[in-house]
Amino acid sequence: TNWQVSALNRLEAVHSSFKYMPARTIRGGCNVNLILMGLPGAGKGTQAERIEDTYPIAHISTGDMFRAAMAAGTALGKEAKGFIDKGQLVPDSVTNGIVKERLAESDTDAGYMLDGFPRTIQQAEALETITADLKKPLDAVINIDVAPAKLVDRLSGRFICKTCGATYHKIYNPPKVAGTCDRCGGHEFFQREDDKPETVKNRLKVNIEMNTPLLDFYQKKGLLHTVNGDQDIDKVFADIKTILAAVAK
Ligand code: AP5
Ligand code: MG
Repeated sequence: TNWQVSALNRLEAVHSSFKYMPARTIRGGCNVNLILMGLPGAGKGTQAERIEDTYPIAHISTGDMFRAAMAAGTALGKEAKGFIDKGQLVPDSVTNGIVKERLAESDTDAGYMLDGFPRTIQQAEALETITADLKKPLDAVINIDVAPAKLVDRLSGRFICKTCGATYHKIYNPPKVAGTCDRCGGHEFFQREDDKPETVKNRLKVNIEMNTPLLDFYQKKGLLHTVNGDQDIDKVFADIKTILAAVAK
């Protein structure tokens, strides 16, 4: 009936006004299973935020999961910290395990986007098994392509909202009102520990080495789409939306 429709519309409006709430609570729309690939600082997290605010799919960032575990001081966090602080990869066995558990959760039934996973061929192969077992096959791999020389600048100027995790950059993407998060209105921000120059250097080195074989792996499967990540954030998102429209079920 009409009142039910308008009540639902109101509910949707309330949901969308809480943009920082996980979009996975809203159903319907684009159902797609994807990987966001890109070197450190390419804009995976930035684009994931926009995708999450527009489509009802779960955002799974292994980096965010490790940082949450580190902040909570769990055994996983303690193990991951030793690697992350040096800009090294956390061992595959650990990372594959947390992704397997996370993808088994029901909020990924409406679609998921992996951000920062896989990063090795061994992880990509493990993901094949996980997605086959769960019957949640990949639809697309979106590679956000940015020349490595641009990335140090992006990482050193990055800051993040403490309340909702929204990502900003002091030059390229400042909040509309200085000191206030556009997304949730929060006023506290932090910089990531691993954005220190020495750590950034190693993160880039490690990830550049791993990147080409992974791109080849997904190219051969016919899943790879590349977007130019060296454009305005909104333009990169527009290109991603075009890909999503073509692959969504
Ligand atoms: P993770 O958290 O995934 O870090 P990362 O891959 O290094 O990527 P970032 O989060 O730094 O970059 P991003 O691409 O999300 O860029 P962002 O959108 O923030 O992993 C951290 C660590 O955890 C790893 O080093 C490893 O130790 C461990 N780990 C995680 N996954 C693992 C795995 N699978 N296996 C093993 N270990 C794992 O943007 C960056 C900045 O640029 C921001 O300031 C943003 O505002 C700005 N920006 C974004 N887009 C643009 C644009 N188009 N133009 C201008 N500026 C832009
Ligand atoms: Mg990120």
